[in-house]
This record gives sequence, C-alpha cells and structure tokens, in this order.
Amino acid sequence: DGTLTILGIESSCDDTAAAIVRIGPDGTQILSSVVAGQTDLHADFGGVVPEIAARAHAERVDICVEDALAQADIALAGVDAIAVTAGPGLIGGVLAGVMCAKGLALATGKPLIGVNHLAGHALTPRLTDDLAFPYLLLLVSGGHCQFLLAEGPDRFRRLGGTIDDAPGEAFDKTAKLLGLPQPGGPAVERAARDGDPRRFPLPRPLLDRAGCDMSFSGLKTALLRARDAVVAEKGGITVQDRADLCAGFQAAVVDILTEKSRRALAEYLTLAPAQPAFAVAGGVAANGPIRAALQGLAKSAGATFHAPPLALCTDNAAMIAFAGAEALQAGHTSGLDLAARPRWPL
Ligand code: KG4
Ligand code: ZN
Repeated sequence: DGTLTILGIESSCDDTAAAIVRIGPDGTQILSSVVAGQTDLHADFGGVVPEIAARAHAERVDICVEDALAQADIALAGVDAIAVTAGPGLIGGVLAGVMCAKGLALATGKPLIGVNHLAGHALTPRLTDDLAFPYLLLLVSGGHCQFLLAEGPDRFRRLGGTIDDAPGEAFDKTAKLLGLPQPGGPAVERAARDGDPRRFPLPRPLLDRAGCDMSFSGLKTALLRARDAVVAEKGGITVQDRADLCAGFQAAVVDILTEKSRRALAEYLTLAPAQPAFAVAGGVAANGPIRAALQGLAKSAGATFHAPPLALCTDNAAMIAFAGAEALQAGHTSGLDLAARPRWPL
C-alpha cells in the first residue's frame, strides 16, 4: 500500500533503543520510540564502562523491541524491514543489537539493514523536516563533532571537525570536575543559567585558524585550572562559582561552534544550493544556547535552520529506523554476515 514500516535497533553507546517508523505517502510517522538508558549503571564510574554497557544491552535489547512493537500496536510480522546500528561504537553493545536484528531477520525473512550510527544522526533532520539535499550538517555529540555536507542518504562529505575531543565529552568532563551528575551536558546547561560567563574567560582554541577544524581539549584543561585556582583561594567551590564556571565553559563552546559554523556555511554556500539549509544533530544539539546561536547564524546567512526535537537529538532508534528506510529506498540491504564495526567513518 506504499507504506514502509521499519523496526530500528540502537545499542552503540549507553542507550538501548528500539523504534517503529512508518514512511508513507503522507509523510513519516514515529509509531513508537523506546529508549532504555544506562546512566544509573555507570554513575559510580564517571563514564560509560564498555563491559557493563554490553551486558545491559544484551539483557534489554529484546525487551525494547517487544515494547516498541507493543506501543506501535503491530506484530513483528507487520514490519517490512529491520534496521540496526552496525557501528561505530562500543563493540560489545553494537554486537548485542546486531545479533538481535539478525535473529529477527532470520525468523521473519524480512530484509536486514546495517546502519551507520552517524548517518542516523545526520539524517534525523529529514525525519522531522522537509529538508532537501544538499544540506550542511553539524553533527555534535559525546563522541563526534564534524561538519558534513549531506549530499544523499549515504553520501556525506566532511568539511572539518574536532582534532581532539568532542564537545559532549567536554561537557561530561566539566560536570565531573564540578561534581555535577552525568550525562554532563544537561547538568552544565542548567547550572550555567545562573552563572556569569565573563567571570572565567576560557580559551577558544583554533578560533583564528582558517577552515572549520575545532579543538576542545585545551578548554577542558583551562577549566580544570580555573577550578583549582578557586579551590586554592577559598578551600572549595560554591554554587555560584560552579555556575560561573559552567557559564564560562558553555560560552566558549558556543563561540567555537558558531564561528566554525560561519566558515562551514560560507563554504557550503559556494555550491549555490537551491534551498540553503543548515541542520544540527547529535546530543549536544539539545543545548538551548547552542541551538539559539546557530539558529541566529543560519538566519543571517539566509539558510533555513533545522534542529530535531530534543528526544531525537540524543541516541534513539527512530533515527536508525529512518536511516534504514532511506537506505532501503536507495536499494541497499545487508546480508546475515553483517559485521559490527567499532570504527566506521561516514
Ligand atoms: O548523541 P548522543 O546521545 O550520544 C553520542 O555521543 O553518540 O550524545 C550524548 C552527549 C553527551 O556527551 C551529553 O552530555 C551531551 O550529548 N548532551 C548535551 C546536552 N544534552 C546531551 N550537551 C550539552 N547540552 C545539553 N543539553
Ligand atoms: Zn549518538
């Protein structure tokens, strides 16, 4: 009947997720999107522990699939294809998802589609908005930070990116340094609301350098020094100190992302796209001040701005189902020999 119903499975980091997405003549619908986070399991360790993550994914992935089917009110037989994140990510977790997807594909005889997690994030703006290729995308998450020229569902050209850490990782480290909970991004954003961003002027590495490469590791070190200076002076940090440090840190990230986006946009606009569009994706795109700054930039450059709703910015399986649908429509499927890949550049 011209509709395509896809089951998506995601398990590459610390969220186990399953979703049902339906694509039809009337557009795309997320029928269900189940995300089982693992924040509590990793809380004592200050980061994701791969072995714990892998075990939790293996225990939960089939339950997430059952929940996604139940919430969408369809049977497994009603699914037309099974899409799964095949990398990049923590290999034990990716394997848990891939094995589950292979079992379902084998049992139902439905096509299996291995999806690149980054392509999932990168195509998300097309899930929610009417967005044509080519568009400029800033993919900014806990593990990634890059400008991509999205030319097609499986054609991405990298214009530049971080040369060291990803901003999400810097948000997480900042939270850890200041005794805030993980994941650090939302906690730092919240604390920064009551802070003065000018009290601790932190560096903006590579800001004057040509091109759109970025660096965030020096910012982290500078934040550590600023915190230590306060502790040395007063014997500890107050709630206000913490808010000011968070605000200073976030302002530096906003400046770096905005300036480098300006350059990436300039490069993209030389292609004279018919409908210039700038999209953001990935967990850090959930950050309010970052979104606002990039939206302002897009407007001044004459490009439309696209930021997925918060629940679709962080890891989820609806984006994997959608990317799988785009791949299937382009004629790509995977065999049962689909490999889980720890590294898989776009
Ligand atoms: O895309 P994602 O769920 O996972 C991958 O890295 O693939 O992104 C998670 C990252 C974490 O580092 C988290 O701290 C960050 O996104 N994040 C945020 C916010 N919400 C999540 N960073 C800044 N501000 C936020 N509001
Ligand atoms: Zn992600």
